[in-house]
Amino acid sequence: MSVRLNTNYLSSFVSAEELTNIQPQVNVAHDLLSSRTGAGNDFLGWTTLPVDYDKEEFARIKIAAEKIKKSCDIFIAIGIGGSYLGARAVIEFCKSPLYNNLSKDTPDIYYAGNNISAFAIDELLKICEGKDICINVISKSGTTTEPAVAFRVFRALLEQKYGVEGARERIFVTTDKARGTLKHFSDEAGYETFVVPDDVGGRFSVLTAVGLLPIAVAGIDIDGLMKGAADAMEAYKNPDLNANDCYKYAAIRNILYRKGKSTEILVGYEPYQTMLSEWWKQLYGESEGKDQRGIFPASVIFSTDLHSLGQYIQDGMRNLFETVISVEESPVAYPIPHDPANIDGLNFLSGMDLNQVKRTAMQATLLAHVDGGVPNLLIELHDKSAYSLGYLIYFFELACAISGYMLGVNPFNQPGVEAYKKNMFALLGKPGYEDMKAELEARLG
Ligand code: PA5
Repeated sequence: MSVRLNTNYLSSFVSAEELTNIQPQVNVAHDLLSSRTGAGNDFLGWTTLPVDYDKEEFARIKIAAEKIKKSCDIFIAIGIGGSYLGARAVIEFCKSPLYNNLSKDTPDIYYAGNNISAFAIDELLKICEGKDICINVISKSGTTTEPAVAFRVFRALLEQKYGVEGARERIFVTTDKARGTLKHFSDEAGYETFVVPDDVGGRFSVLTAVGLLPIAVAGIDIDGLMKGAADAMEAYKNPDLNANDCYKYAAIRNILYRKGKSTEILVGYEPYQTMLSEWWKQLYGESEGKDQRGIFPASVIFSTDLHSLGQYIQDGMRNLFETVISVEESPVAYPIPHDPANIDGLNFLSGMDLNQVKRTAMQATLLAHVDGGVPNLLIELHDKSAYSLGYLIYFFELACAISGYMLGVNPFNQPGVEAYKKNMFALLGKPGYEDMKAELEARLG
């Protein structure tokens, strides 16, 4: 079992009886999901994806990744939200946030189209100077402004550098299988395309071509990633809270939320967990934050943030709970050096593995935060392999669906994302938005 939920630090906040009492509600959520009768049931492709995926496309992803590795120094993944976060989370978790400094046999990977920043585009264009480049534009709708603008910029760069024919060999597109501007344009231009399945929403799409192509380019074992998710899928079939850590996590979140714990902080102790937390925040925030409900997902990396947000967590408003992801095995050990002069007085640590110091910091913090009134859940992950991460990804996706149904929302839509877009299009003068433009400009004064 790659993922274990440790509830030892929770007993003063959630009783065994409360868990027993919430079981019927878990069963209802489970039935809605497994019978595919709940809200958003046309977006449940991710539930069986770890075993039921397009094997021919999976093989094509590996071939494309090899081609990309051979033909470029820089690979740019262009996408935003669910079309970007999963790939980056896996690459940084399984490799490193410093991947580009350390990669030898694989291209450097950069991300574009996830912001509206002239500075960021300009910076990346400078980095690309004199380098061989491939790009993968990823957009389910094919119409999202941020990636569409970045695609314009980098397609033009490639066509200028390699000609239209040469650029065609370096542009890879992941989008809807039949619909949308990007699909039609790609077919006309002759780009190799990969599919975002109709029934998989952006934030649940990391195990489709959306995540898998960039992840494979980074040299990560995508078979292992899928196998981990497939084993998790098998492990979490029984809704009984005594047998299902994934459902237990969903149930505990709901119990805590009803007690006023409206912010969940995902805690990591390794810098390589930072982007995983960003992926998790999108998954939970976009799935549950609707109808004026939902836990606000936040994140910290300790011990870094113990010297920053740690004060608030220990002593601030008591509406928080923490979910700590502890990666049990480290691929490296680092013994603390001995200093004969003992200038810093730290010789009591000489020779101790830094992993042990980190574990002790985690134990100390768990106890302190529990004493401060912050419920703590501990998710123990065996290691940082692709297999274990695939397992954890499925754990979080499934828990999110169950948790969302328990909360009474549709976990698979994101109506709130449209509000800013409409305003932005109107203010930028998009045809068809003329009335709205005048009204918004009047409000802006
Ligand atoms: O999870 C989601 O659905 C969103 O975050 C989308 O992934 C994001 O808005 C990007 O959309 P698209 O892939 O259509 O460009």
